[in-house]
Amino acid sequence: MQQTLASKRILLGISGGIAAYKSADLVRRLKERGADVRVILTDAAQQFITPLTLQAVSGNPVSHSLLDPAAEAAMGHIELAKWADFILIAPASADVIARLAHGLANDLLTTCVLASAAPMAVAPAMNQQMYKNIATQKNIATLKEHNFHIFGPGSGAQACGDVGAGRMLEPLELTALTEQLFAPVKKLQGLRFTITAGPTREAIDPVRYISNHSSGKMGFALAEAAVKAGAQVTLISGPVQLATPAGVARIEVLSAEQMLEAALAAAVNSDVFIGCAAVADYRVAEIATDKLKKGNDNELQLKLIKNPDIIASVAALTQQRPFTVGFAAETRNVLDYARQKLLNKRLDMICANDVSGSQIGFNSEQNAVSVIWRGGELDLPVQPKQQLAEQLIALISQHYKT
Ligand code: C5P
Repeated sequence: MQQTLASKRILLGISGGIAAYKSADLVRRLKERGADVRVILTDAAQQFITPLTLQAVSGNPVSHSLLDPAAEAAMGHIELAKWADFILIAPASADVIARLAHGLANDLLTTCVLASAAPMAVAPAMNQQMYKNIATQKNIATLKEHNFHIFGPGSGAQACGDVGAGRMLEPLELTALTEQLFAPVKKLQGLRFTITAGPTREAIDPVRYISNHSSGKMGFALAEAAVKAGAQVTLISGPVQLATPAGVARIEVLSAEQMLEAALAAAVNSDVFIGCAAVADYRVAEIATDKLKKGNDNELQLKLIKNPDIIASVAALTQQRPFTVGFAAETRNVLDYARQKLLNKRLDMICANDVSGSQIGFNSEQNAVSVIWRGGELDLPVQPKQQLAEQLIALISQHYKT
């Protein structure tokens, strides 16, 4: 089960209605997704479901009285109101909806709602005529104005025998709506990213190669952050020991020439191209078909020839050119070299990366970059690569197409 509600603190208010029997299942569904759930029962709710049941499924003490000194001593109503990341009232009877709409605080549940700044939702559950009643409709409209989310109601057969709108949504439907509220904003929905990552490997003979220490972590973190923000991501990776982030399409390559071919094919279908790979500048002019034998000479000469510049080739596209972001890993004059690369390679943005120490950059968990674009610069300080990636993706989405 995906922990979509991991460590989210949900206060579930249960009011009096036959749908309250489903609230125990709702607690389980929320907990399955990682939420910490506490329950408040109104007086009427206790006619339909017992505190003991809800204590057993939530794993937390259940609160029901505003004036119970023992409960107040354990977690007072204001503390409970502040504890919550989200308050869900399910089922929400016509009576509780009316009381909330008018700001009453005449029991523990309504008091906690008034005392909390958390987002809130009600799941109406009542007879279809009560739901249609103009008073209820006005109260629901007031709750919407007060920024309550209204989950449902569903329609169909009712416990009283009527048919119509007023059924509480099923626990799984309520859980899905709660998950949506906590889902990260998908700012990059519909955008296509191509990201290169890792080193390239330039063969010398069938068993030897030239490469570098790039771990691929930064590129993979960027791919993960872009997918989380809603983008469609193609990750072109050199040989690295990393798992593909969920939702990312990975293309594996070895040499710079292979990376170039894959990059150009993907770039023309992309909105953003990020060149994070540590591409070998040179490759061996003639790869030996058989393993090179150790000779008698103390020297062996390898002739190297320049590799194509992948990111410069992408930036030089005249049609379907994506917004192009490069990296400049340097050990000195970091900003100057990065500014030159931004111009020489005709990039839209460059992330200057000081790799002189071992704390950041190549093969480490942390990184810091100075981001430079045509209209400005921004320093992103030392932090885990995943967090830095999220900030970079946010910055790219701000400047993309400006
Ligand atoms: O190696 P250099 O410092 O020039 O790398 C700067 C940027 O150019 C990086 O984004 C890197 O991925 C890219 N690059 C490339 N192809 C090369 C060399 C570098 O795409 N052959």
